[in-house]
Amino acid sequence: MILKNSATRWGAVSQALHWLIVALILVMAYLGLSMTELPNTPVKVRVYALHKSIGLGILALVVLRLAWRGYAGAPRALPGPRWQQRAAALAHAALYGLLLAMPLSGWLAHSASGFPLRWFGLLRVPPLVARNPALQDLAERWHAALFWTLAALVLVHAAAAFWHHLFRRDATLARMLPRGWLRVPASEESSDA
Ligand code: HEM
Ligand code: HEM
Repeated sequence: MILKNSATRWGAVSQALHWLIVALILVMAYLGLSMTELPNTPVKVRVYALHKSIGLGILALVVLRLAWRGYAGAPRALPGPRWQQRAAALAHAALYGLLLAMPLSGWLAHSASGFPLRWFGLLRVPPLVARNPALQDLAERWHAALFWTLAALVLVHAAAAFWHHLFRRDATLARMLPRGWLRVPASEESSDA
């Protein structure tokens, strides 16, 4: 198992972070979309706290992922039309931007509510701003709008990954998965992978 990214493959660390963040975003989407409808009981308070703690965990994981990418580099773009390579780079940059903006807008909304927050009940999370109900309302609306933008982009992103695998038959999807999980034409993956 190779930890670092090579010129042709994502290493184990980038792969693990990619799929862990995907799984956590799914959990967060479920929690976020269902928790607002819960009756006002202690369960609701706990679900909100869980949503916020996992969300801040995602923020830390995304920062780690970007730092690792800076250190370990990224594989070369696979052969294809220039516009597709540009569109993919743009979409990936937008995904990173949204992955940072989602938790930050949630943190801002929470801070503006004026309530204290402890990460999984352990660490005190500092507020980003003082209590401000108007800002809380605005940040909550950004938070929801950013989520639907992320959801739309993820659909296009995942569709592109399957299209590469099924129709272009290249290594785009295979190189984001452990070696041997998906079959691809041998020429697409090199021995340093
Ligand atoms: C990647 C991370 C996150 C995702 C994907 C996410 C997703 C969501 C979604 C889908 C909703 C429902 C939006 C709606 O329909 O109104 C929501 C609501 C909310 N989120 Fe997050 N969230 C994330 C991080 C956070 C963080 C870090 C915090 C706070 C520290 C937070 C605080 C909130 C709050 C307070 C609401 C409720 C807003 C309301 O009552 O209208 N979120 N989130
Ligand atoms: C919450 C959902 C997702 C997010 C936020 C996300 C985010 C990202 C980001 C930011 C990159 C760029 C990596 C970089 O250049 O540093 C990436 C790459 C990739 N993602 Fe996702 N992704 C998600 C879901 C998925 C899904 C569902 C699939 C496939 C079924 C997928 C397949 C891939 C593949 C194959 C790559 C590598 C592309 C390449 O090597 O050029 N992703 N993803």
